[in-house]
Amino acid sequence: MANFTKKIMITGGAGFIGSHVVRLFVKKYPGYLIVNLDALTYAGNLANLQDVESLPNYKFEKGDITDEARMKELFDAYTFDAVIHLAAESHVDRSILDPLAFVKTNVLGTANLLNVAYTKWKGALDDKLFYHVSTDEVYGSLGKEGFFTEETPYDPRSPYSASKASSDHFVMAWHHTYGLPVVLSNCSNNYGSHHFPEKLIPLMINNILNSRPLPVYGKGENVRDWLYVEDHARAIDTIFHQGKKGETYNIGGFNEWKNIDIVHLLCGIMDRKLNRPAGESAKLITYVKDRPGHDLRYAIDATKLNKELGWTPSLQFEEGLEKTVDWYLQNQDWVKAVTSGDYQKYYNEQYNKR
Ligand code: NAD
Ligand code: DAU
Repeated sequence: MANFTKKIMITGGAGFIGSHVVRLFVKKYPGYLIVNLDALTYAGNLANLQDVESLPNYKFEKGDITDEARMKELFDAYTFDAVIHLAAESHVDRSILDPLAFVKTNVLGTANLLNVAYTKWKGALDDKLFYHVSTDEVYGSLGKEGFFTEETPYDPRSPYSASKASSDHFVMAWHHTYGLPVVLSNCSNNYGSHHFPEKLIPLMINNILNSRPLPVYGKGENVRDWLYVEDHARAIDTIFHQGKKGETYNIGGFNEWKNIDIVHLLCGIMDRKLNRPAGESAKLITYVKDRPGHDLRYAIDATKLNKELGWTPSLQFEEGLEKTVDWYLQNQDWVKAVTSGDYQKYYNEQYNKR
């Protein structure tokens, strides 16, 4: 193996956020070896990484984080210095349909990875790092006022957020009990290219394009705090290099939107880009049965990350949404590939009875 200054395993690198993190690290740090470990579930797609796959500091390894023998084999083969852990089941609606899949990957998978990392690094922990990527959903649901800070008590309310909260606790347990050097970040909702069209923004873009109903849960009054995915990847880079071991950093852009306002914004952008009369796409909006246990509002206070490590988001939401819509319009082959087969089955199960 060539003389790399760091060898990093990035888990879930074929997914939405993971592919942006892999791309950033591979291009920005040619002296680092980046090994993308991914099970290639429905959400993992190697086409997300076509622009870096032939670079000499990138390697892909297929594997499941719950598979102890496979993880040990990879740690032996590459002698990793660090792990950036993104692999997860990530969609709240799927966690309601199949909660145990989330316990398996997010809880057992993370505990397995921590155990293997500690076993392989024991005796030489000082220059190692286990970076766990988590979500603001672990803090539960806000009322109309207030923000999530790093001190907000955990109060997860969906099988997805409970599984992520559990994984966060295991990460801190390995730190306090075994001295494993860890860092953790909790980010708000991401949007941008390569986002799987089961999530609000890409699903709405795809449905508007195909003149299909736009399923808004409940009254569309729930609020999310949106961050451009490349800004999340930059924050992970900053925290990976400068974050204090054992600490948590909240990541967000102080950018709150009601779901219904986002859907209207997307309809307006798409009407313009598709040369439809103004107001045409908004006629597709359909209010459907609410998500069970639907969290009302998320809002991240990212002051610590800004003050201590100097990170700020780079893009305004409207500009980021325009770029995102353009990417989907220009990459219809990608969309068609990921929405064929199993996606239709999921879509029917999720939406047909609402
Ligand atoms: P994603 O669903 O797009 O990608 C997940 C990736 O993990 C896929 O490539 C999948 O193949 C892989 N994977 C799933 N199970 C695996 C397993 N058992 N072993 C190995 N690989 C496996 O998810 P995402 O939206 O990119 O989220 C990435 C991480 O960031 C997750 O941990 C998620 O909780 C967290 N997060 C997401 C958001 C968001 O808005 N999407 C916000 C904050 C935090
Ligand atoms: O906050 C971070 C989290 O954001 C991440 O940890 C998750 O991995 C990610 O999926 C996301 O969770 P949300 O549940 O907030 O995202 P989603 O895109 O599924 O939904 C956003 C909002 O839009 C939510 O209030 C539900 C609503 N919604 C969603 C879909 C898919 C609809 O109204 N209609 C829909 O069809």
